[in-house]
Amino acid sequence: MTVCQILQLVRQIIWEICQQMPENGRVSDTSQLYLLQIGERDSRFQRDSREDYGRPDPEACIKPLRGSERMKAVVYDRYGPPDVLRLEEVERPAPKEDEVLVKIHATTVNRLDCATREANRRSGLAVTLLSRFISGLRRPKQRILGSELAGVVEAVGAAVNEFAVGDHVFGTSGLRFGAHAEFICMRESARIAHKPAVCDGALNALWCLRLADLRKGQRILIYGASGSIGTAGVQLAKYFEVDVTAVCNTKNLERVRSLGADRVIDYTQEDFTKNGQTYDVIFDAVGKHSFKRCRGSLSRGGSYLATDGFQNLMLALWTARIGDKKVRFSIPPRYTKKDILFLKEFIEAGRYRAVIDRCYPLEDVVEATRYVETEQKTGNVVLTVSGDRGT
Ligand SMILES: NC(=O)c1ccc[n+]([C@@H]2O[C@H](COP(=O)([O-])OP(=O)(O)OC[C@H]3O[C@@H](n4cnc5c(N)ncnc54)[C@H](OP(=O)(O)O)[C@@H]3O)[C@@H](O)[C@H]2O)c1
Repeated sequence: MTVCQILQLVRQIIWEICQQMPENGRVSDTSQLYLLQIGERDSRFQRDSREDYGRPDPEACIKPLRGSERMKAVVYDRYGPPDVLRLEEVERPAPKEDEVLVKIHATTVNRLDCATREANRRSGLAVTLLSRFISGLRRPKQRILGSELAGVVEAVGAAVNEFAVGDHVFGTSGLRFGAHAEFICMRESARIAHKPAVCDGALNALWCLRLADLRKGQRILIYGASGSIGTAGVQLAKYFEVDVTAVCNTKNLERVRSLGADRVIDYTQEDFTKNGQTYDVIFDAVGKHSFKRCRGSLSRGGSYLATDGFQNLMLALWTARIGDKKVRFSIPPRYTKKDILFLKEFIEAGRYRAVIDRCYPLEDVVEATRYVETEQKTGNVVLTVSGDRGT
């Protein structure tokens, strides 16, 4: 077991704990989530008066019908390879007072799903045991994976104020998962805004970039610019008015350039650490590089932004006190209402587009997962679930 592997687990543990912490610090018994309303409300539920628009119609809310409704979901009962996933009919969740029930149109398969499904098996026995301790010793406690979703509000609890039946929404359930299904219940959260996206990579990238305290005109290099975090990172970095050099594979050069990178380096042709260029910030958006190797390419006072690795946590503590080049890494990510609102405005301004590599129907989740595990996806892999696929 390497130090890096331990970090991945520690990160997951802390994140899991934080998923249960609402902003006021009390522990919640329901999912903490980010839910964003998308554009137009379903016309079937449109009200006449604008005043009514933001409140749920009590008649349109369904009463909790525990056990009486079924839905399709991708479940797994044991840890293992993608083949442990299967489609099954399960009980449809019913919203509690402060929850909304979302009919999911699309979700994603991401790296978090893959690591959780195999109980971090690739990271060695000790990490696997720890991972199982968190997500279920003998079998997974949460049978349904999936942390990102886009869909329509199907029903709301009596205490929900900001969402109504028919709202088109997107969001993330984080480590609570549950999105590889036709429906999910999510708590109405303080961290809500109004606009769509595949948001996991963007939130991750924003979190990392904020750590660097970017200033206009600085030079940033983004390594792994074609992944979920990387494609968002390039676009967000341009927002901060910095000069972006993106590093990716040959096949992704044009795509990454189209996202706004000022220049693109093909890592199969050129090693950026040996070209003599220096950067104020180096963002390892795919967790494949290291501070040690990047150090010579950092300007005086420069920062190395990490997305993974226990060693980076140690280095962040160490370099905060010693040396003029810093490792910036903080776990777990603490997405805030401010981040959500920022992302909303960013999207509305037409400055961000989620890069979608492939779309699979829910039934093909095993194939989708195998593809994500190649670690060669460009941007995001979407699972379409039901209804209006235009969400
Ligand atoms: N997404 C999440 O939910 C999540 C959550 C927490 C942590 N993380 C961590 O954050 C990191 C990035 O996650 P992600 O979801 O953005 O990754 P990802 O989308 O799976 O990354 C795929 C991309 O990585 C690039 N890549 C693969 N090997 C590379 C290498 N040796 N050098 C440069 N690029 C390489 C590939 O680009 P090319 O084809 O150009 O090589 C591909 O486009 C990972 O370490 C992950 O564990 C992710």
